[in-house]
Amino acid sequence: MPPIVVTIDGPAGTGKSTVALLVAERLGFQFLNTGAMYRAVAWHCLQHAVNLQDAMSSTAVAANLSFHIVDHKMQVDGVDLSQEFRDDTISQAASVIAAHSEIRSILVERQRQLAEEMSLVSEGRDQGTIVFPNATKKFFLTARPEVRAQRRYDDLRGHSDVSYEQILKTQQERDLRDMTRSIAPLQPAPDAEVVDSSDLELDEVVNLLVQKVEQAQQAA
Ligand code: DC
Repeated sequence: MPPIVVTIDGPAGTGKSTVALLVAERLGFQFLNTGAMYRAVAWHCLQHAVNLQDAMSSTAVAANLSFHIVDHKMQVDGVDLSQEFRDDTISQAASVIAAHSEIRSILVERQRQLAEEMSLVSEGRDQGTIVFPNATKKFFLTARPEVRAQRRYDDLRGHSDVSYEQILKTQQERDLRDMTRSIAPLQPAPDAEVVDSSDLELDEVVNLLVQKVEQAQQAA
């Protein structure tokens, strides 16, 4: 059977990554965390004092990185940097470099290559709209802004001393930037199923998505 792709897009803080990982495990697919790819590019730019607004220099950074999935984790140049990536500075920086079309082209091409090698639950902002228009099943996961900020706050507690108010503010800035950029703005694909997770427990969301993917597979 050829590899299958399930896409989960949506704004920051919906729990997309956790949901995507658990859905991938349940289906026996790999988890493609595309946000980690943008975060990795941002992290490397900051490490080498590359100006994030400078499309040419930051694109050169992206072009020189290798991306592999090992046991659901994104390995960048053979290293799992997921802890470093959680930082709010990296979140903001990732959102800035993600607006450069040249960087998006590089990462989109790599995402499509990965999907040729294995079945994926691919999570991000543009997976259903741009990267995998023919995905077997597409979801747009959302939740109320206050719920998302609270989840992010709980997630970061112990790793960072950032306040809830600060998270809500930067989340709004990031949502606005991601939704209004001219290239691949955050929006649901016309054929995506929109799931509001505000009042659902994690396992309820995961069960719902797995069930819907299985229905889509049977219908295909
Ligand atoms: O999902 P995340 O919070 O880890 O993503 C970090 C940033 O990367 C986010 O602000 C927008 C950008 N991003 C994107 O533009 N396209 C994707 N497919 C994934 C992330």
